[in-house]
Amino acid sequence: MKRSAGPMLIILSLLTDAVSANSQLICSHQPITVLAGDDVILPCHLEPPISVSDETVEWTRPDIDPKYVHFHQDGRLMFDYQNPSYYLRTRLFMDELMTGNVSMKIFKVKVSDTGRYQCALPSLQKEASIQLIVGESDVIGSDKPVTVTVGDNAILPCHLEPPSNVRTLTVEWTHDGEYVHVSRHGKDYLTDQDENFRGRTSVFHEEMIRGNISLKLTNVTELDAGSYTCFVPKLQSQVRRGFINLTVGEYS
Ligand SMILES: *[C@@H]1O[C@H](CO)[C@@H](O)[C@H](O)[C@H]1NC(C)=O
Ligand SMILES: *[C@@H]1O[C@H](CO)[C@@H](O)[C@H](O)[C@H]1NC(C)=O
Ligand SMILES: *[C@@H]1O[C@H](CO)[C@@H](O)[C@H](O)[C@H]1NC(C)=O
Ligand SMILES: *[C@@H]1O[C@H](CO)[C@@H](O)[C@H](O)[C@H]1NC(C)=O
Repeated sequence: MKRSAGPMLIILSLLTDAVSANSQLICSHQPITVLAGDDVILPCHLEPPISVSDETVEWTRPDIDPKYVHFHQDGRLMFDYQNPSYYLRTRLFMDELMTGNVSMKIFKVKVSDTGRYQCALPSLQKEASIQLIVGESDVIGSDKPVTVTVGDNAILPCHLEPPSNVRTLTVEWTHDGEYVHVSRHGKDYLTDQDENFRGRTSVFHEEMIRGNISLKLTNVTELDAGSYTCFVPKLQSQVRRGFINLTVGEYS
């Protein structure tokens, strides 16, 4: 312990103890659920806030060896202690430490990052834990063909199972290899779109948060019939493509 020298230091540390005794380290009680490949913040902070800029902050996982995910001391990450699987994938927020925010960010999470994380401030004797769940979702099209008549609108169903947020990822729809629709971050990118589909396609950007990447096609023509593919290239999953057949009937 560094609290041995001089009366002044003792008084200071007593003051710190008095203030910090009231503070609780609070981490999210809800598990944090995220898709493999994403970045995630594990939120933990002291309430009421006190500065921990000069404190040691330990993020560990008791189930791995070495257990240190992020060991912060003397204002920096101590690489020597860190479990190699987290090398260059973690950070704390230096500016936030002043307000007792000890949240840790993990970049490009893997399924193996799933677990219970322990956050500790040893000198203040504070400790709390938080659960991270990293999942993989598959892209699911439709076994049954979608059938519409010429001039109708069609919704080609495609979604992620289990549902997960793909709003920030690129979603590509193709028809026999031609681009039908591309979207990312709530925006459409239609420069490479096949002429046949111009002005007739849309996706449900708000639904993408729940993993729904269905395509809406208006004023269907006979040329639209055939096989469609919904594709999420950056998805960390075994199944990144879904298939849907569209059957177009004549007016009756
Ligand atoms: C802590 O910092 C992170 C990263 O800047 C931020 O997302 C989070 O909202 C902050 N939490 C609090 C309680 O201020
Ligand atoms: C789509 O149609 C083709 C040709 O009829 C068939 O081989 C394929 O299995 C169908 N795919 C789906 C997902 O229904
Ligand atoms: C996706 O969203 C569309 C439009 O709101 C809806 O018709 C469809 O049922 C949704 N699909 C799923 C799997 O939720
Ligand atoms: C639907 O497409 C046909 C050509 O295939 C066009 O003549 C017609 O105006 C379109 N209808 C609408 C509502 O856009």
